Amino acid sequence: MLIEGAAGPDLIRVDNLAKHFPVTRGAVLRRVVGTVKAVDGVSFAIGHGRTLGLVGESGCGKSTVGRLLVRLIDPTAGSIMLDGTDISRLDGEAMFQHRRNLQFVFQDPMSSLNPRMTVEKIIAEPLVVQGVPVAEQRARVGELLDLVGLAPAHRTRYPHEFSGGQRQRIGIARALATNPRFVVCDEAVSALDVSVQAQIVNLLKRLQRELGLSYLFVAHDLSVVRHMSDDVAVMYLGRIVEIGDRRRIFAAPAHPYTKALLSSVPAPRQSARREARTLLSGELPSPLNPPNGCAFHTRCPVAIARCKVERPELRPVETGQAAACHLLD
Ligand SMILES: Nc1ncnc2c1ncn2[C@@H]1O[C@H](COP(=O)(O)OP(=O)(O)OP(=O)(O)O)[C@@H](O)[C@H]1O
Ligand SMILES: [Mg+2]
Repeated sequence: MLIEGAAGPDLIRVDNLAKHFPVTRGAVLRRVVGTVKAVDGVSFAIGHGRTLGLVGESGCGKSTVGRLLVRLIDPTAGSIMLDGTDISRLDGEAMFQHRRNLQFVFQDPMSSLNPRMTVEKIIAEPLVVQGVPVAEQRARVGELLDLVGLAPAHRTRYPHEFSGGQRQRIGIARALATNPRFVVCDEAVSALDVSVQAQIVNLLKRLQRELGLSYLFVAHDLSVVRHMSDDVAVMYLGRIVEIGDRRRIFAAPAHPYTKALLSSVPAPRQSARREARTLLSGELPSPLNPPNGCAFHTRCPVAIARCKVERPELRPVETGQAAACHLLD
């Protein structure tokens, strides 16, 4: 079960995960003048072969969640269970054993692929780190090129010789080199043309089916998230305000923020519902100084007095759906 309950067959289970960044001022003394609670106590689970979509406005903490899950950064608090083992505090050799299971696909393949390395070298890099013998590396690169729809002749080429979509295929091949079980796709298709986006989304879905991968899929484009995800989590200023089954979230969003996000998506077939749109108004508050109570109350069209003082916790709304809003009491 996604939201709460017994230890199910989840691949990833995150409990109360937090990442606070110190904010410093001054080039020399670097005085700490505050803290950004980029991620402030999030909990969720991702099952084997399943995808959790993560949405929310810029700066709400989506990438930070992704980077925490693959241990690119250390959490301030909370646990990350990978198949029953808490990996949130592991380092050195203990973490090395788990690292090959956790990979990351970045938004911009041009800046994440080394321009001076051939495709062969780029894809083999994680295998070199893992100490895989050279002959095995070569065979694996051949397999991976085939898996992501690139040709054997592409081995000796450089990133600039490829289109955006092909470059993202190289990034995906590199992420899959170590045979991971979990992949964070952080805006992995956002920089691509719409037609190319569809090809990469379909590739990711096929790879998921064939390899049994689990994904955290971060994206701004809600239609892409809808297409990719089994479950969806909505973040606002470092916290999850709604989470649940993708069909429920899109058909019957419970949190006013989710409703606003969904209604701000221009969908041609939704014109009849245009009057019902509650476009998000007002500025996103500073994450350095988030509002008291419910962080969304300053922009919420239905906020009541209680929302200004008391922070709502996530609670079940329906089977497979939970939201953090006092109006659901
Ligand atoms: N290394 C860091 N040091 C200080 N603050 C950081 C750091 N990384 C992220 N932040 C802050 O944490 C907050 C969340 O950032 P994050 O990149 O996770 O947001 P996001 O949801 O991925 O945004 P976007 O949609 O723009 O990619 C932001 O306020 C950001 O400025
Ligand atoms: Mg981001």
